[in-house]
Formats: sequence, C-alpha cells, structure tokens
Amino acid sequence: MDIIEIIEKKKRGLELNVDEIIYAVDEFTNGNIPDYQMSALLMAICLKGMSDRETSDLTFAMMESGETIDLSEIPGKKVDKHSSGGIGDKATLIVGPLVASLGVNVVKMSGRGLGVTGGTVDKLESIPGFCSDMSVDDIIEQLKDVGFVDAAQSPDLAPADKKIYALRDVTGTVDSIPLIASSIMSKKLASGADALVLDVKCGSGAFMNDIDHARKLAETMINIGNSRDVKTIAVISDMNEPLGKMVGNSLELVETVRYLKPGGWKYSDKGLDQVVITLASWMVILSGWFDGKDMMLSDMHAISVNMLRGALDSGAALDKFREFIKAQHGDDSFVDDIDNFVKADNVVDVYLDSSGFIASCSADKIGMASCILGAGRMKLDDSIDPNAGVEVMYNVGDYYEEGTPIARLYTANKDKISEAESLLKEAYTLSDSEVPIPAKIIDILK
Ligand code: URA
Repeated sequence: MDIIEIIEKKKRGLELNVDEIIYAVDEFTNGNIPDYQMSALLMAICLKGMSDRETSDLTFAMMESGETIDLSEIPGKKVDKHSSGGIGDKATLIVGPLVASLGVNVVKMSGRGLGVTGGTVDKLESIPGFCSDMSVDDIIEQLKDVGFVDAAQSPDLAPADKKIYALRDVTGTVDSIPLIASSIMSKKLASGADALVLDVKCGSGAFMNDIDHARKLAETMINIGNSRDVKTIAVISDMNEPLGKMVGNSLELVETVRYLKPGGWKYSDKGLDQVVITLASWMVILSGWFDGKDMMLSDMHAISVNMLRGALDSGAALDKFREFIKAQHGDDSFVDDIDNFVKADNVVDVYLDSSGFIASCSADKIGMASCILGAGRMKLDDSIDPNAGVEVMYNVGDYYEEGTPIARLYTANKDKISEAESLLKEAYTLSDSEVPIPAKIIDILK
C-alpha cells in the first residue's frame, strides 16, 4: 500500500477502504509515515469529508492502535460522559460525583485543555496533590471502591489519536466532523464504558458553531457508539456564552463546590443547573436504573431528577466528590474553605460604559481572555496558572447596571490585564430592550 495513493484518492473525494484507513493510522502511529504526509491526508479529509463508514473505520483503527480497558469484572453498567469542549464547562466535575452518589458507576478519561477550551484534568490538578495519571488496575480498584474515577487519558489508550490530534492542532485540521468524531469516540470506546452521554457544544465557544454541524457531529458519534454496543445519546447544548459564572481552573472548582454543597444548586447559575441535571438524568437512565420497568421516558426523567436533587440536598453528592478527590490523593480541605481557594496576585474588576440588557456574551472572547490571563495553553507544552481566569457577573438576558463590575479577572501576570480587559469589553453587546434568556439545552438526540 502507498500513502501517496491514499492521499491522492482522498484529495479527489473518493472513499478510502478499511485497509487503506488502517494502513494510514498504523503506519503513522509507528512512525513510518512522516508528519507532512499525514498532514496532507488530514487536510484532504477536512476538505473532502468522509462517509459514515469511513469515519467508523477510522475510529476503530485509532481505538485499536493501543490498549482497551476491560471493565466487565465490575458488576452493572459503567457510564461515561463527554463534552466536545467549551468555555467554563465544569459539568463533568459536578455530574461525575453526583451520579455516582446514587450508586451508578461513572468512569471518565479526561483531557487537558488546549486553546480556549478548558480541560478537566487541568481543573482537577489545581487541587493540591490530586493525581490524574492512573494505571488500569488503579482505575478498576477505584471504580469498585468509590464508583467514580476521572483519570487522564493514558498514553497507551488510542495513541494514534494522541499523535493525530497533536498534528491537527498545528495544521488547521481540527474542525472536521469525521476527525472530531473519530478522535472522541476512539478514546471513549477504548475506555470500556457500557453507555455514554455526549454533551455536544454548539456556539461561538465550541468547535461546532451552528446547529446543523453540531447535529451531524452528534449523529455521527451516536452511530459509532451504538455500532459497538455502547448505548450513546447526545445532548446539544449552547456554547455562545460561557457555562456558569467561572472560567479558569481553580475558579471552576469553586463553582463546582458551591453547586454541590447542600442546597447550592438553588443559588447556582440557572444554565449550569439545566445542563448538569439534563446530563445527569440521562446518565442515570442509561445506567439501566429503570431496566425492566414499564415506564415512560418522561417519568424516568422525573424520578431521576428527584433522586439527583435529593443527593444534592442531603450532601451525598458533595461527600462523593470528597471521596473521589481523596481517592486520587487530592487534599480535600479546600472544600471547607472554598471562598479562599483561588489565590491570584491580581484581581481586577471590568466595567462597561453604559447600562442595558445583555444581548450577547461571546464565549470565545471570554475563553481567549482567560487563556491570556494564564488559564489555558496555546501549545501542548505551555504551563498554566491554576488561579487565573475570568468570573462573569452577568448572563445574556440580565440587565447590566453601569458602575457595577461586568466581570472579574484573576491573574499572576499584571502585564496581561489590559489585553484581557479589552477582550472582555468586546465580548458583550447591550440592548435597550429586553432580551430573552436563551435555552441551554438545544436538542437531545438518541
Ligand atoms: N476533543 C477531542 O478529543 N478530539 C477532538 O478532535 C475535538 C475535541
């Protein structure tokens, strides 16, 4: 087989067969196809697309490039949740322990943030001592003991994706539905869960800016998951404005703990609560909780939501969060002193020049401001400042009163404040007339 012929074929928009896809993935992973040829193939895929069959073959080739985790020794269904990436998206930190506190096994492999989108691993590692690097044996043990694991993707899990993703990141080939779907699903299928709830983000702060592309991405991933008997559903949620009020690593932990504290959800950001409860209730349903019961889906949701609210109000969800942090060697004492957890040297309020209803609060600009302040990395080996980020005070639909802070910036780097401040001001548009609050849940695909 010849990689140049494969590139030429895709360049002409022809379908690759399974052997050609496996060859390209395996030989690139083994170092026998150089970066420049793989980059050409990735660009051809970006421009010409892939059929559903090709995308599935690419996913399975990447999944089989490394080890797959076998969780069958753990009784019951193991549920996973994955977000396609957004700004201020701390839903995993909340739904993992919340759903696990009901007795559902939740297993999650998370990534580090790249560009403006945050990564759960970075957020968790802002907790002193927290360890994300776990062996498969440790993952299985913790799942048995605690019912919730959130580990960094091991280098042996879908190594082809790791290599291809790093190349996509520097060759302008990230925003392709077949490439995103195969990247996400190769890791998900390798990590051994029986059911998967996908949160496909749609909007200015997401890889998919419009609903048609978000739907196509969701459908593609659902088909891949179901074809391997991993029951998969997708929630499409809004990412035109950040999710919740905090953007940044330790800042997002603050919002997580405030939400998980008994009764905390009642005072939390309403959009965050909608997303959390929707994802969590689907995770409960896919865990098989209602299997064998002759019940309408709407009743299953109502019962799940009741149980989830109960776990939040009783403190069971927060207890599970602490148990999980301790199991992964983190110091859980920050939970008791959460208001003092973020220790940034510079905390600066930003103001707008006039009052009005918030018409937009651009997630990508706020993500970029947070990145500039030190919360994100533009290259894989950049270091991040766990205390840096942005706290937004208003959401779309709120009335902004001139003279009150629209946002608060946190950073160790004083020199970055004015650039971040300008971006923050650009992120907002105001309207004289009332603006409806946008729905956070756009669609649910099964
Ligand atoms: N997340 C992934 O894991 N891969 C992508 O391609 C995009 C988001």
